[in-house]
Amino acid sequence: MGPAFSQPGNGDDEEIPTPLPPYFHPLHLSNGRPPPIAPPWAPTSTSIDSSEPQPTAHLIHFPTSPLSASYTTQLALIIDHLFTPAECAALISLAESTGPWVPAEVDGRVAVNYRNSARIMRKDERAGEWIYERLGPWMRELGVEVLYEPRGEEGEEKEEGRRREGGEKKFGHIVPRGVRLGLARRNKMAAESGLGKGKGKGELEDQEEIVRWDMCRVNPLLRFLKYGPGQFFHRHCDGHFLTSDLPDWDSSQPLEKSWITIQIYLSSTGLAGGATSFWGRSGKDYTTKIDVEARQGRVLIFQQRDLIHTGEKVRGGEKITIRSEFMFRKVVEKKKEEEGGR
Ligand SMILES: [Fe+2]
Repeated sequence: MGPAFSQPGNGDDEEIPTPLPPYFHPLHLSNGRPPPIAPPWAPTSTSIDSSEPQPTAHLIHFPTSPLSASYTTQLALIIDHLFTPAECAALISLAESTGPWVPAEVDGRVAVNYRNSARIMRKDERAGEWIYERLGPWMRELGVEVLYEPRGEEGEEKEEGRRREGGEKKFGHIVPRGVRLGLARRNKMAAESGLGKGKGKGELEDQEEIVRWDMCRVNPLLRFLKYGPGQFFHRHCDGHFLTSDLPDWDSSQPLEKSWITIQIYLSSTGLAGGATSFWGRSGKDYTTKIDVEARQGRVLIFQQRDLIHTGEKVRGGEKITIRSEFMFRKVVEKKKEEEGGR
């Protein structure tokens, strides 16, 4: 059993506060929290109540965690109380207004020994924008809203349409904005967590052109997932989502690619089990995990490559989540010509 991340005063076990593990580092918004906006599609009863708890965020600091042998600079951020219970209920209603729950597929087929849950897919620009408003400030605080991609032998861009392993780089090769602008150093928390220590900084300086990915939205293709007792999702890393894979992709538009996953936990009472758990890559770490419990209103954000995780088996109750991702737009920066020569 791995160490669990729980928050006192939130949920069924509030009488037994669980201390936060020391490798969960608090993260604060330096500009404060923007005023929350009620979901545009929901009745007024879901408007924000000032008595709701304020969001609190923690980064997993892998170098001092039980998974230190596997992970260093990987990104995993937990934000609690980002969505109120009424907002979570409104999101579930939105999903269920789309159609029935159907078995979730992997690569176009149901594979219940690997992934066993129900799913509703809903493409909803308005809901995606609303979620983006809520999450964006945290991404900007971390300096991961702009990513730089080293090119060269390891970083050479493969065919854009490919999303399979082997053709993709790990997030570890991507350099967050903080490195270039010095903002990771300003944000001590982000710097200590290893963000902004991308491997490619040196490579970037020598490149004729630089590939940059600018965060632009939340993928509006929301996947609502429902896990009942006995259901789970086995070990995996998340794949990139490419707009060029969509049937209605317009190639005249800039390419968008996801780098960072979003899980929003929506269901409330009676859930037992069902944590999202991070696992080590090999050896001793292969049996060690860090649990992030699926508490209502909590959001878990983590990089898609190079971070093995599971949806642990639900033992009781129901777990409902939204799975989406941050989309980034590709920009190629040409290096400025040096004026005056040498
Ligand atoms: Fe996943």
